[in-house]
Amino acid sequence: MRGVVLAGGLGTRLQPMTRVTNKHLLPVFDRPMIYFPIQQMVHAGIDDILVVAGENHSGDFLLLLGNGKEFGLRRLSYAYQEGEGGIAEALGLAQDFADGGSLCVILGDNIFGAPIREAVESYRAGPEGAMVLLKEVDDPQRFGVAELDGERIAGIVEKPSQPKSNLAVTGCYFYDGRVFDIVDSLSRSDRGELEITDVNNHYIDWGELRHYIVDGWWADAGTIPSLYRATRLVAETTDQSVLRLPEITKFSKKSPSR
Ligand code: G1P
Repeated sequence: MRGVVLAGGLGTRLQPMTRVTNKHLLPVFDRPMIYFPIQQMVHAGIDDILVVAGENHSGDFLLLLGNGKEFGLRRLSYAYQEGEGGIAEALGLAQDFADGGSLCVILGDNIFGAPIREAVESYRAGPEGAMVLLKEVDDPQRFGVAELDGERIAGIVEKPSQPKSNLAVTGCYFYDGRVFDIVDSLSRSDRGELEITDVNNHYIDWGELRHYIVDGWWADAGTIPSLYRATRLVAETTDQSVLRLPEITKFSKKSPSR
């Protein structure tokens, strides 16, 4: 399984910091935000990763991450998303990289306090299709929200004003090779984007969307209050198993090899 980190977008909710750098390069306690999804994938055994970056300061990803060797990656690739076409459009750029195989996709501003490794194993062990990671939250209006019908997800609504549950769809998704046909078939939402929620609802229509409720805390870091919360949670996390892996925390002082 290959990994895709989606790191596009202008980060308008983090202005003025994002005028001078990319959102995913902002610090979350002791490291740049984008380290977290990469670390999660490495910890889960995924060593072939594509970073999809947007127009905003995207060259800095290369300066920071180089060839990914510092993280223990076998290959680190980059794709460039023009404009603001949304998460699903960014995912569409990973088609050649995926080469028909399955993908673990994490949004670059999503931080999980516990390893996602079990979720990766659960997806691998199951049938074809897709899987989303869910987490109970106090403010579901901010997210895609899943409505459960017994054991299965009946539907997902993007940022509902009256959420039917408090189960947020986190920014960690698993897809099989058919995801790109779905992306190709999508129409733009009212905000002019191809929505990842529409992708997931397609899999629901096929009866092929599984879910996994994550252990530990989850934070996105895309707004000033949530960046603050994420920073606090990372700083306070006592079980730092996933954050303290040897190959991850021994950051060299020198620049990454390129
Ligand atoms: C995106 C997705 C949303 C998901 C969230 C997780 O929202 O559209 O479904 O719950 O990421 O971070 P955005 O951050 O683009 O508002």
